[in-house]
Amino acid sequence: MEISESHARELARQAERKAELREALERELAGVEEILFEAGCGHGHWLTSYAEEHPHLQCVGIDLISWRIRKCLNKRDKRELQNLHFYKAELNEFLEVLPDAIRFQCTVLLFPDPWPKARHHRRRMVQPAFLDEVAKRTDRGGQFCFRSDDRPYYDWTIEHLEAHPDWQIDAEAQWPHENDTYFQDMMDEYHSVIARRV
Ligand SMILES: C[S@@+](CC[C@H](N)C(=O)[O-])C[C@H]1O[C@@H](n2cnc3c(N)ncnc32)[C@H](O)[C@@H]1O
Repeated sequence: MEISESHARELARQAERKAELREALERELAGVEEILFEAGCGHGHWLTSYAEEHPHLQCVGIDLISWRIRKCLNKRDKRELQNLHFYKAELNEFLEVLPDAIRFQCTVLLFPDPWPKARHHRRRMVQPAFLDEVAKRTDRGGQFCFRSDDRPYYDWTIEHLEAHPDWQIDAEAQWPHENDTYFQDMMDEYHSVIARRV
């Protein structure tokens, strides 16, 4: 099948981006076996606070937006946190190139974009394939933590977790760490769910 020139250019850019990310992850996370992973970390408030309280766990946050990652890196550098890493990366590309040896103790999604229109639901970060990928990297007992102010997205996440054979909702689990994020600070109410890898 023929592909257009612009599509070919986009594929080339994507390959270059992934190669650079893979190289940075292999270099900076060499020897790391287990992480707490935050997808869509925004300005990094929550993860920075978490990493400060858990100096023995490596914490990795990603976000699509460069200037947000710059803010995250400034926070990390100011506090001189050696166990905190931020990358400008798209979620699926990150999961594709992350070294195989790295396991997730916990995966966190805080106020992910809700994409309310039905035709945009496929852009939500919570998807069966995403839950598959995270499950592959998570040992039994490891957690997936989701929080959103958007009730339909919260319900969507509950439905996808209930339908997934590798995750079980743990209604008794305590939220791992409380610290406002940029978005949490603006919300009057929100909904949280924690699932465990089974
Ligand atoms: C509504 S903001 C929430 C940010 C932060 N978690 C908070 O609570 O303040 C959602 C974030 O997810 C990021 N994001 C959206 N889709 C993404 C993707 N596919 N991969 C990585 N980051 C993504 C956006 O750039 C944005 O910073």
